[in-house]
Amino acid sequence: MTVAPAFAPVPSLAVRARSIGGSPVRDILAVTARPEVINFAGGLPAPELFDAEGVAHAFRAVLAQESAQALQYSTTEGEPALRAALAARTSARGLATDPDDLLVTTGSQQALSLLATALLEPGDVVLVESPCYLAALQVFAFAGARVVAVPGDGDGVDPVALEELVVRERPKLLYTVPTFQNPTGRTMPADRRAAVAAVAARRGLWIVEDDPYGELRFEGERVPWIASHEEAADRTVLLGSFSKVMAPGLRLGWLRAPRELLRACVVAKQAADLHTPTVNQLAAARYLADRDLDAHVARVAGVYRERRDAMLAGLPEALPEGSAWTRPEGGMFLWARLPESYDTTALLPQVVRHDVAYVPGAPFYAGDPDRSTLRLCFVTQTPEEIGEGLRRLGEGLRGDGLSFGSCP
Ligand SMILES: Cc1ncc(COP(=O)(O)O)c(C=O)c1O
Repeated sequence: MTVAPAFAPVPSLAVRARSIGGSPVRDILAVTARPEVINFAGGLPAPELFDAEGVAHAFRAVLAQESAQALQYSTTEGEPALRAALAARTSARGLATDPDDLLVTTGSQQALSLLATALLEPGDVVLVESPCYLAALQVFAFAGARVVAVPGDGDGVDPVALEELVVRERPKLLYTVPTFQNPTGRTMPADRRAAVAAVAARRGLWIVEDDPYGELRFEGERVPWIASHEEAADRTVLLGSFSKVMAPGLRLGWLRAPRELLRACVVAKQAADLHTPTVNQLAAARYLADRDLDAHVARVAGVYRERRDAMLAGLPEALPEGSAWTRPEGGMFLWARLPESYDTTALLPQVVRHDVAYVPGAPFYAGDPDRSTLRLCFVTQTPEEIGEGLRRLGEGLRGDGLSFGSCP
């Protein structure tokens, strides 16, 4: 028998835990926690617009009237009252939905993890937009997927390029945020959605349609979900969330999927967290019954519109000549491209010294990054703060005053 050493190192972390880094957005948020920093980097809904009173009222009512249920374990699929309300809201928006089509998730982020567990083998190909929501890239990386970016333009993925990739790569799924995309703010028009649905139907492909921002429209007409295209109805998963319209701290999202996939996600969720907190689900259901969420969202969208306009007004002064940017009709983000010689990752420390922050574009790309891009969140600050933040951004990008920066 060998003698045990007095001290031995613990076994190593799994390869995936060692190889996949944290979100660069979170790292930047940590650096910019100083209160004087005007932070356009985070994706935080404006906290002063939370209906705290309405949410508190809903929690109080639930705890006073149904505490035994609210504080108890619940079913994995979700509280019937919430699933019924979500099904009614989805149906009212033109997509006939039964409560049994829905699984309540702990934020829509969890829906992405569940789908990865239910659908992906290591090595499977996942198609994404270019650029793509960062934390979705993380989920697919943890699943061991090979992530391939679909070429696109200001309207989203190019259906011709998509079809070529489906034929060549045999992917399992396409992940898309068709409305007010994170990070670009762009929206896929109706004909493009129809073409994407047609490719999925023709070639055999799951579509994961992630829609946390769609309700935050302050301009233009609502575009129907890809999920409402009949031909792709049996292969489209729609994700929703209360994070951007009620409060992200509730961690309430949902997934609408064909039955077999939904059942697989339920089993995956059992293993992950048994169920989403009962009290939060019942409070949200109570809120939907007692309050007018649509009126609240309309108020929030009105304020966000003013903030978007403040950002659009300040950008020509702040960004170098030759820059271009998106003009989102809703949501929380816009995307800028500086002239090619600018590298927004390399420039960030210099900009942060001017007490303002953005997210560099490079991490959002699964393929070749465009290093001259950046994401700005326009909803968290007031128009005055946005104006001041953009003034600082202009200084930071120009490097004003930095000739003295290296003095002790
Ligand atoms: C495109 C997209 N999907 C999903 C999420 C996750 O949202 P939730 O708070 O519902 O988990 C976000 C959050 O920013 C997002 O931008």
